Amino acid sequence: MNHPRRITLALAACSALLAAGGALAQAAPAKLKVGLMLPYTGTFAALGTAIENGFRLHVAENGGKLAGREIEFVRVDDESDPAKASDNVNKLIKRDNVDVLVGTVHSGVAMAMAKVAKDTGTLLIVPNAGADAVTGPMCAPNIFRSSFSNWQPGYAMGEMVAKKGHKKVVTITWKYAAGDESVRGFKEGFEKSGGKVVKELSLPFPNVEFQALLTEIAASKPDAVYTFFAGGGAVKFVKDYAAAGLKKHIPLYGAGFLTDGTLEAQGLDADGLLTTLHYADSLDNPRDKAFRLAYAKTYKLQPDVYAVQGYDAAQMLGVGLAAVKGDIGKKAEFAEALRRARIDSPRGAFTLSKSHNPVQDIYLRQVTGKENKVVGVASKALPDPGRGCRI
Ligand code: PHB
Repeated sequence: MNHPRRITLALAACSALLAAGGALAQAAPAKLKVGLMLPYTGTFAALGTAIENGFRLHVAENGGKLAGREIEFVRVDDESDPAKASDNVNKLIKRDNVDVLVGTVHSGVAMAMAKVAKDTGTLLIVPNAGADAVTGPMCAPNIFRSSFSNWQPGYAMGEMVAKKGHKKVVTITWKYAAGDESVRGFKEGFEKSGGKVVKELSLPFPNVEFQALLTEIAASKPDAVYTFFAGGGAVKFVKDYAAAGLKKHIPLYGAGFLTDGTLEAQGLDADGLLTTLHYADSLDNPRDKAFRLAYAKTYKLQPDVYAVQGYDAAQMLGVGLAAVKGDIGKKAEFAEALRRARIDSPRGAFTLSKSHNPVQDIYLRQVTGKENKVVGVASKALPDPGRGCRI
């Protein structure tokens, strides 16, 4: 091959390479894989679905993308089973190579997720589970929560029940992190304001044989009862409390999960119940109105607190990703953006505490027909204390 011909060939090869490079530079960035680890079966099944619906709604509103990156989902049913949690989360990280973990509902499962997220540095956004430890001793720069801590609604209700003049309260819940911590929060708010929790009743998660415990409540004759139940268990508890004849004599108060997403099934047995939560059905803000309309149109369902938390988990991911221009590897900048962000939530705008938990208003709500109507704000901009967190 003579010299000039070699040069021509080399030039041709170079320009082909340059063209290919140009095409690559213009190609869409790789999809961002979101691992949804949620309960799709069991007592919390409806909660998992609402979270996924909310998350997908925000992504759809942005044309299937967040910060320019197309979103791809991988789903795992965690069955609200802590024993299967580490295997499930490791599969998402190692087999499916997800970029982000989003989950879950159950506090015990969420703590297992947080441990793996902390060990591997994988970004985790918790769209429900309130486990105090997740934004307490287990907190980490790559772990965020779009929901609440179990302490928050409990504490607000403790203060509220004391304000109502009740002195002697019995608590009843499932015996696991969420129930224990919700009751602990309640007790802290109630007893510092002069009340006394005289008995703490519980049964294993997710049991719903309440009869013996309801008999014990009747015998104790407290001024009021405080409870944490959610999902299918909350439906049954509210119905059993009324059927046992207790509703007329001993006021029942709860963390708002007792009546959120459950009113259709609880019917009149829930009517009048007062609960505390960071969301309600009758918030008078345009952001919520638009969200509820879009959700109802898309899913032919009314949204609930779980749908909001899923929506906000996607919003938080979007805010962080926008700050790093889609490069999720820039962990410090991602975290910094979220620490400074004001999330424009349907619940009302919120910021994140140092331990990455929402600082938010806790509403007092009352069941009226099929709605949790706002009665007032029980606690304004309530931060979780974040005890034991060092970031
Ligand atoms: C929890 O396990 O943290 C939990 C579960 C369901 C709820 C709220 C909290 O509705």
